Amino acid sequence: MKRYERFAEQIAELIRSGVLAPGEKVPSVRHASRTYGVSPSTVFQAYYLLEDRGLISARARSGYFVREHAQRPLHEPDIGPRQAHTTEVDVSELVFSVLDSIKDPLTVPFGSAFPSPHLFPLPRLARSMSQALRELSPHAVVADMTAGNPDLRRQIALRYMVSGVRLALDELVISNGALEALNLCLQTVTAPGDLVAIEAPAFYATLQVLERLKLKAVEIPMHPREGIDLDSLADSLQRLPVKACWFMSGLQNPLGASMSDDKKRALYELLQRHQVPLIEDDVYAELHYGPSPAKPVKSFDRDGLVMHCGSFSKSLAPGYRVGWVAGGRYAERIQRLKLMTTLSPSVPAQAAIADYLQHGGYDRHLRKLRYALETQQGAMLASAARHFPAETRVTRPLGGYFLWFEFPERVDSLHLFQLALAQGISLAPGPIFSATRRFQNCARLNHGYPWDAQSERAMETLGRILATF
Ligand SMILES: Cc1ncc(COP(=O)(O)O)c(C=O)c1O
Repeated sequence: MKRYERFAEQIAELIRSGVLAPGEKVPSVRHASRTYGVSPSTVFQAYYLLEDRGLISARARSGYFVREHAQRPLHEPDIGPRQAHTTEVDVSELVFSVLDSIKDPLTVPFGSAFPSPHLFPLPRLARSMSQALRELSPHAVVADMTAGNPDLRRQIALRYMVSGVRLALDELVISNGALEALNLCLQTVTAPGDLVAIEAPAFYATLQVLERLKLKAVEIPMHPREGIDLDSLADSLQRLPVKACWFMSGLQNPLGASMSDDKKRALYELLQRHQVPLIEDDVYAELHYGPSPAKPVKSFDRDGLVMHCGSFSKSLAPGYRVGWVAGGRYAERIQRLKLMTTLSPSVPAQAAIADYLQHGGYDRHLRKLRYALETQQGAMLASAARHFPAETRVTRPLGGYFLWFEFPERVDSLHLFQLALAQGISLAPGPIFSATRRFQNCARLNHGYPWDAQSERAMETLGRILATF
């Protein structure tokens, strides 16, 4: 990182954490230069960068101010009811009907689960693929199926080290995307009929996996910024024979909530006391806007109770279907289950990603990707404030590419979904994120695509539809 980028990052952090509030003046160039010991031109360059990212704006003869992330900032959603719900899961039909209807490439993809494919280094990955295949030994074509590509395993372990997790290599199981890893983990520690604690709202595939494995969900309420309600979880663990937890401690889908380190430690201690394993879904870990990755709950794990699942689908190579789990004490059972089901992810895809991680400039790509996503988040927030009803609430995640909107009570988001789709706009309606079909007035919108006039018009159209409820 260059000096001005580092300085810009410091100011961005002050804005994100609320120390510098919307509308507030940022330190003048002279003041900043003196206080932070950087040259005035470094401050100028940093402020241009922050302006470009939509975080501050210049006012004639007055200096720079934190942008009202949007002229009329929307409030954060309410905390849901504090009571946990236990229920059978039956959402697949609803989820499939929503996902089916948003496949049309002409639809504005606010309902999509992926960022724009143009944000990924696909041509560079293709070069890695051909290079890796030229070098792949006949022995490895077969051997890498069971153990996984050794270079890839090392590269993944190295990235864990950077985020503060020491990992034994034999804990790592390479999988067909994180979704396979998550499925295997859950199968390893549960049997049909068992109770599993999940978030409310939760990633819809979590609900589908529970449904497929005939498991019951204990829905734990979420705080939109700080993650699961630990008191409610503690109460459920006390009262119910919960067999596993499936949580996202960072950049949760759909809320974007990220737990503090203290909360992660407290969660781990709680689960440790009850000896309940945690399946930690951390597929958005690389998409943080701040300078460094958050520690996962796995970093507090002393006795292998946490199965930490990651993936390249969201940060590098969608469609390559390469993910993994650091499986702790369950690693061997997970590995065996994988050998009995899909055997292995594609060996060429693993080799291509391993080559890219070593030679392709992954960190440079990630910096560009995070920058694009943060800029687009600013654009969507500003647009929502212009076009959506004033009572609308919205999250403000510190990474990723989803915003969670809570509309006025009278809005039925499944109906909103149909009306929007008829106008060529998709969105992910709230009820697909809940086993109990809650969140009927909420929706998740994707800002993973470059913001353009069409996105702005789509937000305006959504605003007009919302006004009809
Ligand atoms: C929260 C969450 N977990 C897991 C996955 C699945 O990841 P992968 O594509 O690597 O299987 C997704 C993808 O949408 C996700 O959003």
